[in-house]
Amino acid sequence: MLITLHTQTPATGDLVIPFLQSDALPGELTAVAQRLNLPASVLEHDFKADAGEVLPVYSASGQRTYLLGLGKTPQSMDWLRVFRSFFFTNKSKLPNQLSVDVSRFDSIVVEAVVLGILGGGYNLQLYKTDKAGESAFYGSEGQLTLYVDADQRLAADDALTRARTIARTQRAMLDLMNAPANYKNPQTLADWSLNAGRTNGYSVTVLDKAALEEQGLGALLSVSRGSDVPPALIVVEYKPESVGNLRTVGLVGKGVTFDTGGVSIKSSASMHLMKSDMGGAAAVLGTIDVAAQLNLPVHLIGIVPATENSTDGSSTKPGDVITTYTGKTIEIIDTDAEGRVILADGLGYLLRNYQPDVVIDLATLTGSIIAALGYHAAGLFTANDELAAQLAQAGERTGERVWRMPLWDVYKEDIKSDVADIKNFSGKPLAGSISAAKFLEFFSENHPAWAHLDIAGMAFADTEFGSQKNATGFGIRLLIDYIHNMM
Ligand code: BES
Ligand code: MN
Ligand code: ZN
Repeated sequence: MLITLHTQTPATGDLVIPFLQSDALPGELTAVAQRLNLPASVLEHDFKADAGEVLPVYSASGQRTYLLGLGKTPQSMDWLRVFRSFFFTNKSKLPNQLSVDVSRFDSIVVEAVVLGILGGGYNLQLYKTDKAGESAFYGSEGQLTLYVDADQRLAADDALTRARTIARTQRAMLDLMNAPANYKNPQTLADWSLNAGRTNGYSVTVLDKAALEEQGLGALLSVSRGSDVPPALIVVEYKPESVGNLRTVGLVGKGVTFDTGGVSIKSSASMHLMKSDMGGAAAVLGTIDVAAQLNLPVHLIGIVPATENSTDGSSTKPGDVITTYTGKTIEIIDTDAEGRVILADGLGYLLRNYQPDVVIDLATLTGSIIAALGYHAAGLFTANDELAAQLAQAGERTGERVWRMPLWDVYKEDIKSDVADIKNFSGKPLAGSISAAKFLEFFSENHPAWAHLDIAGMAFADTEFGSQKNATGFGIRLLIDYIHNMM
């Protein structure tokens, strides 16, 4: 699809016009009515600009105008959602050439609108053999024109570039997340990273099973034991060629390509959703890919421990004690608490080999965070108030919300082991996301700016794309916004 910016609203052509619910609405509708030669009272009667409301209006010559409601005070995520939903729902009907008039709005809106429009073209049906009904608007024929205010032209140009970059990378991550385990494994993630690093100019190193054994990443290896596919540690580094002091941000993402639970096997009812247990990896790999393409002035290191959590005769068993990369030992109480185990090696590898100023790990870590926050916010765990505020603000700005949870030491009692340095599960159905965070804290080497994001409820969720939960791409916009504003 070709996207262009213009500063002059056209007299003809098919047009989408967004409207807020405000005192200005009647006047704005009168102007539209005049242009279309309609009585204003009809538009005013039929269109209230509720969030998501759509009123298609046709002129005698067949010109389409879609009035799109945004509600009272839409935030960036509301703009994105309304546009995504409109374009997704109508994608097979849309004309090849379509304009969107955002000239009455700030350029900040442009990024959300473009993300929404591009997002609306997503197709979950990767493996359907009948490819009929694909949208022409989203094909090579499609042309989208955005009308922006002349004063906003430069900022809108930037917003457009950002949105296209994020949308492209996010889509690749959605495909990886939605891919079933017979179409993806740790090597698939590694291959994607190697290829993206070559294309976009950042370095990617993959430690294969032999290298993991040689370097002693015993925690990652222990989770992978029951699987036929070998594990990998993906190490990504982006450092722009620029003068001046760059801040170094270390990102660690859980990359479990399928989580059966291992010997502590999950019940089957929703086990198929566990193909999505690599949402942290997607956020980390996606963020670095976007940052590199946008040349952001920051030094990023991404670590993705990638493995399947499966089960066979050689699986790690409950009660086993394993030795991590750092030398610390873990008593495995429940093999389904595997995310924190591989992150112990991910964090250890990052902190022993690099000197990041900030460390953020992201993981689809616990069902318990879903019990606490539902599907509306990720759990944020950190002892650093400044980092907490920065991440919370990035969450509000992008709509990828995070909510701070406690990290008090009393919760550490739950994961004391009699036989090893720590155990991976308290054995109690209480405060599970917090004891998981305390476990990770034990491997954070007392770093003063470490944060953990439990994104279990956010990475895979209900969307308009399908009837079952599917990937959201959560974390990329959050982290890009955080990086933008930390400097
Ligand atoms: N990948 C799961 C967490 C999860 C659950 C993600 C639901 C997305 C949706 C994780 O590995 C897991 O199994 N956690 C267990 C931990 C428990 C055994 C201590 C959980 O939350 O039940
Ligand atoms: Mn698990
Ligand atoms: Zn898991």
